[in-house]
Amino acid sequence: MCGIVAYVGGQPAYPIVVKGLKRLEYRGYDSSGVALVDNGQLNIYKKKGKVTELENLMEGKDKSSTVGMGHTRWATHGEPNDRNAHPHPSNDHSIAIIHNGIIENYASIRQNLLGKGHQFVSDTDTEVLIHFIEEIRRETGQSLEASVRIALKEVVGAYAIVIMDQENPTQLIAARKGSPLVIGIGKDEFFFASDATPIVEYTKEVVYLDDYQVAVVSHGELTISDLDNLPAIPYIQTLELELEAIEKGGYDHFMLKEIFEQPRSIADSMRGRSNASEGTLQLGGLNHYMDKLAQAERIVIVACGTSWHAGLVAEYLFEELARINVEVEYASEFRYRNPVIGENDVVIAISQSGETADTLAAIEIAKQKGATIFGVCNVVGSSIARATHAGAYTHAGPEIGVASTKAFTAQVTVLTQIAIAVAKRKGVLQENIYRQLLIELETIPEKVQQLLENADKVKEIAFIFTYARNFIYLGRGLNFPVALEGALKLKEISYIHAEGYPAAEMKHGPIALIDEDMPVVFLATKDGSYDKIVSNIQEVKARKGRVIAIVTEGDELIPGMVDFVIEVPPVHEILVPLLSVIPLQLLSYYIAVMRGRNVDQPRNLAKSVTVE
Ligand code: M6R
Repeated sequence: MCGIVAYVGGQPAYPIVVKGLKRLEYRGYDSSGVALVDNGQLNIYKKKGKVTELENLMEGKDKSSTVGMGHTRWATHGEPNDRNAHPHPSNDHSIAIIHNGIIENYASIRQNLLGKGHQFVSDTDTEVLIHFIEEIRRETGQSLEASVRIALKEVVGAYAIVIMDQENPTQLIAARKGSPLVIGIGKDEFFFASDATPIVEYTKEVVYLDDYQVAVVSHGELTISDLDNLPAIPYIQTLELELEAIEKGGYDHFMLKEIFEQPRSIADSMRGRSNASEGTLQLGGLNHYMDKLAQAERIVIVACGTSWHAGLVAEYLFEELARINVEVEYASEFRYRNPVIGENDVVIAISQSGETADTLAAIEIAKQKGATIFGVCNVVGSSIARATHAGAYTHAGPEIGVASTKAFTAQVTVLTQIAIAVAKRKGVLQENIYRQLLIELETIPEKVQQLLENADKVKEIAFIFTYARNFIYLGRGLNFPVALEGALKLKEISYIHAEGYPAAEMKHGPIALIDEDMPVVFLATKDGSYDKIVSNIQEVKARKGRVIAIVTEGDELIPGMVDFVIEVPPVHEILVPLLSVIPLQLLSYYIAVMRGRNVDQPRNLAKSVTVE
């Protein structure tokens, strides 16, 4: 969703800000803008469309300002256009704001300000906030910083903001509640951003702002305090992020790079945790909570999108291995349902970004009801990671492509490890199976590599189905969530309508859709439901559906029945999703590329969904 970048220091701000905005493009946006102070004058430039449009607009403009801020907007209040893009100036045009989040009570504040003569030129809640701050400053005679605090105590909603003042071009004021904001500390210079990607090439020293904190950089000094102006000592962390991790590294798209990174990212998600030769499995962050997990009456998993699919895989794993009752909830539904949940329940929140608003809200509700909450997050230090009692990071590295790929396999790897560890602690997992699972887990990166080496075969199939209008994905057991994930990948980046179903459900409705124009992807690896899925394939073939089957290497039956076959290496059936999802990621990627789609930034989508 929206992206924030700001700079104050000794260098021209514009190139840093605009480069930062490009680094944040992956979050999804529809317009962008910058604010600079030239010769004591606040200048704002905004443009609908990509950051390159903004760059065109900036040609020939004075870009010498050493303070500046920029924003990529993902429309919430008002359509995407130049007018609604950020930054937004105050009524007198002396101060400006960039904002991520939503000010929920903006309408009443706006009404009040209209009565005081304010004129608004956009439809946004953000413009109302900067006018509100301006009005407080005018009425109270307080400093800008104090006025920001007063205003923020009045507003309801979520925000990460940065404010610039033309009278004070060495100063930037920032604050957060519910939307992330990180401050980079350089030598006599400071950077503000929604995440660390715009900062990492300049400094590794960062401070993550907490909710209700206000940060002020003025004359080269950073101070942090709360809304009551009580000072806080900045907790400076060193970023582990490397620049290469956020660049394409020779691949055409981030998504392709991230698909091909999976042998490494899966290995990273296991590193230091499981060791097959020693027969050990430990997840540091959960050590003190293993009994709580093992004794849980119920595990409730909350997540959205791909992370929800990883949760569905985990449902099978915890039930099968650890014999614990599991419910997997869409965080957005859970939060508004007055869920029955209590102290004996364990909640696992899964999120790549760690910033998904619905998942965060679900965590808060479960916390209020006394449940213990674990996080499975990718982004270190993210809001969800901080809101949970304990957790395990997935260590997949930055995921820039909007379509989640390596984050999914890393989540499934970590959840598999947790399920095995809990089953062992409960004493319900036979030692030989425990050992076998640890050994087979270690073979996964190599098997994924093998699958990736056959990517061209998937590309050929993608070529044949590039112009399909619909797709159905079918799987049973652990492959059912994989079917859902395959369908989600295809629809989000190629815009082809695709549905995932449990294969046995097909005959209860979707079978009516099957004809010679309907491609059906079957997840048909060798497992306990193999014979059943063979019957389902026959039902589709009998109706002339075109079948692409993902089968286990060496399968001699299914290849003779279907139109196309993609083989995956044999593996313990508990671990199959880690392999069977790979060809589906590749299929959606190649189809989207062949259709000329913007794979990394599909229309209407945002990488981290920080609003409801
Ligand atoms: O960051 P999160 O894992 O919490 O995000 C959840 C979903 O928004 C995300 O998985 C989304 O569905 C992806 N675009 C899927 O590829």
